[in-house]
Amino acid sequence: MYKVNCLNPIANVGLDLFDNQYETVKELNQADAVLVRSAAMHDLELPETLKAIARAGAGVNNIPLEECAKKGIVVFNTPGANANGVKELVIAGLMLAARDVVGGINWVQTVKEDENVAKLVEKQKSQFAGTEIQGKKLGVIGLGAIGVLVANAANRLGMQVYGCDPYISVDAAWNLSRDITHVKNIEDIYRECDYITVHVPLLDNTKGMINKDTIALMKNGVVVLNFARDLLVNDNDIEEALQSGKVKKYVTDFPNAKTAGMAGVIALPHLGASTEESEDNCAVMAVKEIRDYLENGNIKNS
Ligand code: MLT
Repeated sequence: MYKVNCLNPIANVGLDLFDNQYETVKELNQADAVLVRSAAMHDLELPETLKAIARAGAGVNNIPLEECAKKGIVVFNTPGANANGVKELVIAGLMLAARDVVGGINWVQTVKEDENVAKLVEKQKSQFAGTEIQGKKLGVIGLGAIGVLVANAANRLGMQVYGCDPYISVDAAWNLSRDITHVKNIEDIYRECDYITVHVPLLDNTKGMINKDTIALMKNGVVVLNFARDLLVNDNDIEEALQSGKVKKYVTDFPNAKTAGMAGVIALPHLGASTEESEDNCAVMAVKEIRDYLENGNIKNS
């Protein structure tokens, strides 16, 4: 009997794929496999019995990869399984930055029962006027599953989209997304774009990639979106840029004590992949990966 520990709740549609060779266990101790979403595993003691960890999601920065490599534990992720969910929220993020939806909603809630709403709206609404995204330049950094979907969707909304990914050739990128301009030099994205969205993993060479030097290259009043990983953006530098007006809005799916209440920040509680569909897709892919490895020794998406 294989023992599987779920460190985060995992959708039933995935768990139902475990047949009677499997039991789910509450403790990590003795587990053959772990299913995890965003729970940090760095401080956990990984038992000798552990053979596989499947991350129901794309990013694996919550998993101690070096330790796993040393112990022969295979780490899987579920690339693309939640890409559509994240893409849709990034598009919402673009809208939230362009139009003062949040300010408008908050204001409406302050209207009292006995007030003449129509009259008040006429008086107040100009303060919530925004801009349109059509015709604006969007830079997409990272053309993996999510970046490509974001690029194509934004293009269909009438944005001029520029994409950059150092790991794929311009030709390959063109095949993934034919309607966007592919640039080799990331600095062109920083210099040209009105909106910049990052879709890269958190690695040593991407940590803090949005910092005072890269922000200095950007247009005045640029909007930065981060639905990838918190530490891609240097908080102190983005704070300074928001205060000076260099960055008009910072839309992030990773609030932290520093950025949460900052003016110009639109922060969401890591909701990109939090849709029923994405959670189901990730759970199914992760469970299949674990089964295929434990039962057949096959390794896919590791
Ligand atoms: C991911 O890396 O795919 C997301 O962070 C998934 C999640 O929200 O768990």
